[in-house]
Amino acid sequence: MTKKQINQNDSYKNELLNSIDNEYIYESAPISRIKNKIYNIEDKLKSLDELKNKIGSIEDCKLKENASNLVFSDGSIDSQIMIVGEGPGQKEDELSKPFVGDAGMLLNKMLKAININRKDIYITNVVNYRPPNNRKPEPNEILRYSNFLREHIAIINPKILILMGSTAMESLLGSKNKISKERGKWKEVIINNSTYLTMVTFHPAYLLRQADQKKYSWADLKVIRKKIDELEIKF
Ligand code: URA
Repeated sequence: MTKKQINQNDSYKNELLNSIDNEYIYESAPISRIKNKIYNIEDKLKSLDELKNKIGSIEDCKLKENASNLVFSDGSIDSQIMIVGEGPGQKEDELSKPFVGDAGMLLNKMLKAININRKDIYITNVVNYRPPNNRKPEPNEILRYSNFLREHIAIINPKILILMGSTAMESLLGSKNKISKERGKWKEVIINNSTYLTMVTFHPAYLLRQADQKKYSWADLKVIRKKIDELEIKF
């Protein structure tokens, strides 16, 4: 490179630097497009509150228009186990709390059977407003709320994610799968570059209607318990 060329390059560099607003060049930390994991409880509470407000401000939503209350979550925000159901029923809508009706009572028993207290895990649903007449959420509703659900999972950051029923499976794994084929196997859900170990299993409301399927659910629960022990998850 000749002296002349060096000088010319320098003048280009100076021109470039002068054209950049100072505000954009003083930051030395790398720009991260990935939301950092939240480890601090206060930050977690704040993020959950912001998410709840975001869901509460949703517009043009048939679910919200017909429901009485927003049903956000229940349990320990610090838990390493997160359960996702479908959507609130009548009782959940009344009490603004997930899984407090008949399906919730069965869920509590299922957890107890593998030595877990419901209060020690974190529970939410795919949609946060009761669908009219307890209908299944429509595909466009599942898709719309899946953004909230993904953010919810990223905030809680569980070690094990349990998807109960086909709606929860559809929300995070797509609609092409059949729950009878997918249940009982460990899968991965990726959110913001983090991988969540995930198990699909039957929904307790389905088990109330199809008691003969409980044996499969019991098999899944035992696999989940084994993983909890392997990962040394403490409650
Ligand atoms: N069924 C669900 O999927 N969620 C609830 O909260 C209650 C029943």
